[in-house]
Amino acid sequence: MMKKNILVTCALPYSNGPIHIGHLLEHIQADIWVRYHKMNKRSVIFICADDTHGTPIMLKSDKMKMKPNDLIKKTFREHFRDLSNFNILYDYYSHTNTKENLFFTKKIFLSLKKKGFIIEKNIFQLYDVLKNIFLPDRLVKGECPKCFSSNQYGDHCDKCGSVYSAQDLLHPRSEISNSIPILKKTKHIFFNLSSFEKTLKNWISSGVCNLQVERKSKEWFKNGLRLWDISRDAPYFGFKIPGYKEKYFYVWLDAPICYISTLKILSKKRKDICFDEFWKTSHKTSIYHFIGKDIIYFHSLFWPAILEGINFRKPTGIFVHGYVTINNKKMSKSKNFFIKASTWLKHFDSDSLRYYFASKLSSKIHDIDLNIDDFISRINSDIVNKIVNLASRCSTFINKDFNNMLSSFVLQEKIYVFFYNNTKNILSLFKRREFSAVIRSIVEYANFANNYINDMRPWVLSKKNKYDIQIQLICTMGINLFRFLMTWLKPIMPDLSYRSEFFLSTKFSFESLKHPLLNHKILKFFCLYKRINVSRDIFFK
Ligand code: MSP
Ligand code: ZN
Repeated sequence: MMKKNILVTCALPYSNGPIHIGHLLEHIQADIWVRYHKMNKRSVIFICADDTHGTPIMLKSDKMKMKPNDLIKKTFREHFRDLSNFNILYDYYSHTNTKENLFFTKKIFLSLKKKGFIIEKNIFQLYDVLKNIFLPDRLVKGECPKCFSSNQYGDHCDKCGSVYSAQDLLHPRSEISNSIPILKKTKHIFFNLSSFEKTLKNWISSGVCNLQVERKSKEWFKNGLRLWDISRDAPYFGFKIPGYKEKYFYVWLDAPICYISTLKILSKKRKDICFDEFWKTSHKTSIYHFIGKDIIYFHSLFWPAILEGINFRKPTGIFVHGYVTINNKKMSKSKNFFIKASTWLKHFDSDSLRYYFASKLSSKIHDIDLNIDDFISRINSDIVNKIVNLASRCSTFINKDFNNMLSSFVLQEKIYVFFYNNTKNILSLFKRREFSAVIRSIVEYANFANNYINDMRPWVLSKKNKYDIQIQLICTMGINLFRFLMTWLKPIMPDLSYRSEFFLSTKFSFESLKHPLLNHKILKFFCLYKRINVSRDIFFK
């Protein structure tokens, strides 16, 4: 069977704030999956971009006395720096304010319009008379119409969970000016989602997502699919809608289109990428979107409907993850309860977060708690005490008494084969995104390897005769088992793998595990990973 080329995307982080560890969960999850595929010789293209449009970005740039364009450029540099520092290996990182994205957004809109999927309607919306601006739901607060809790947003209630429209809020206030908003009539442009009901129902049940996501998406069909409002009134930072005055595309229209425009930009730079093979047909390629649970709606309904409407192919899979919590509490930007990517790196390295998230990630949607105590003990016990220590205790003898040379044959073939046979299992777990199971298996095998060295006691033999060939054979076995562990870990901890490759003077790959590392000179052992030694309250004192 022909192996399809793969396109992988992450959801586009908004330009109105820094990359935090919640974003990183998604980028790390996708990056591990991409690295696994690349190690497995699959052709994968990994793209993402900044989501630059919308009211919050416009207001933030106002506040900072900057032009929106300058603000998004500054944030772009910071986002790209942060993601690179976590070894997220994008083939291309773009943003939604490019001329290519404008081109596709207009073209797609006009095509949908021509086919009759676009409808105009007058609606009433809350309007801030002091600031002369229509208020998005997130910028209105008031009392929940169901449970009467105060200080709730215009779209849903944090207390009772009910969803409503901003006009139903009791005693509404504008978040921008604190004034009481009025209802004002305005013409909006809508995408007729219900035309795609049948296609979407079939698509969602065709194995593109797990059962949890399928069930959630099907709930939306129950009440019938509603018109989707794709326009916003000026003032707005975004793309103008062709044929209308002072109307802009809603940020959520041009954002997913950036999955298309980014690949277009990349395909102009890289001759090996055929744009049409990715977006126009699906027999040669697969497309996977990694997203968080809050944006399922957009990716399981609106996005495939748009693609269907313009006769493009639909995604092969939507991979949804849960939310990162810190010590079981929701992160919150407004309460300053969140950890920025750049703050993390002041205290820890990027591999440690990659390892910790991997140890908790699976193909299911569940929230992932970062508990700093648990994090520190996981890294010290698994990485330092088990994995790196294995290399350290075996290389001592090889470095000291055997001129850095590994033995020329394997002491117990059976043990080597036992590890080799687990590689298949590891590959299958990576493929299914069961990363926590990958880690469990690696730790189990690390325990086995350490027990092996404990049982063989090379230090006892060394006391009798430090040049005893048995010692070289035992430690060569230990180094080879370390090589298994590090090869399996390579998609998860690229920096540690890189240092370990340097130490063993070899490159780790799944296929080279077939043959043990023998008759081979290694370097003198150096500190591959530092034990973490910090007080636990470094982030929130
Ligand atoms: N700009 C939109 C996505 C457009 S995609 C066409 C957006 N941006 S976001 O910055 O709010 O979120 C980007 C991604 O990060 C989303 O998948 C979101 O679920 C994820 N996360 C944001 N906060 C998160 C956590 N606390 N935990 C896990 N993921 C989180 O939505
Ligand atoms: Zn409520």
